[in-house]
Amino acid sequence: MLKAYGVAAAAFAVLAFAGQATAQDAEAGKKVFIKCAVCHGIGDTKKPLGPTLNGVIGRTAGTEPEFAAKAAGYSKAMKEAGAAGLVWDEAAIAEYITDPKKKIPGNKMAFAGLKVEKERLDVIAYIKTFAN
Ligand code: HEC
Repeated sequence: MLKAYGVAAAAFAVLAFAGQATAQDAEAGKKVFIKCAVCHGIGDTKKPLGPTLNGVIGRTAGTEPEFAAKAAGYSKAMKEAGAAGLVWDEAAIAEYITDPKKKIPGNKMAFAGLKVEKERLDVIAYIKTFAN
């Protein structure tokens, strides 16, 4: 009986730890977003160098209307990725911001990538708070 309790407690501890390790923290993500904010507007902020990230989750790649209308808007590679069916869910964004040039060769986001998983999860949690 005691032994079984010990196993259950250990399993719970592992689960609790895993939960903590992957929890998304939008507040922390706001600070990570400073790295993106050079180019990307969000909320009421507008930035000329990149598409707004309001509502990006669930949006087809390369289709934010204001940025798409610019002469120096999306790259051919990004538009083609969208045309081929790339929709920005959380997993796709995580993969893209880890290594933008690897996920979409030829795209023009001049960003080396976020190599720390926690920063990716947090920044996505922050972006998620701006649905439109
Ligand atoms: C140096 C400027 C710059 C930085 C820094 C930057 N981006 Fe970008 N981002 C761009 C540009 C430009 C595009 C469009 C790329 C293209 O069309 O090839 C883009 C595209 C995107 C897209 C696809 C949007 C769409 O409408 O299809 C996402 C998502 C994105 N960036 C997220 C981020 C995140 C998150 C960060 C910070 C971790 C970041 N970016 C940092 C310039 C930047």
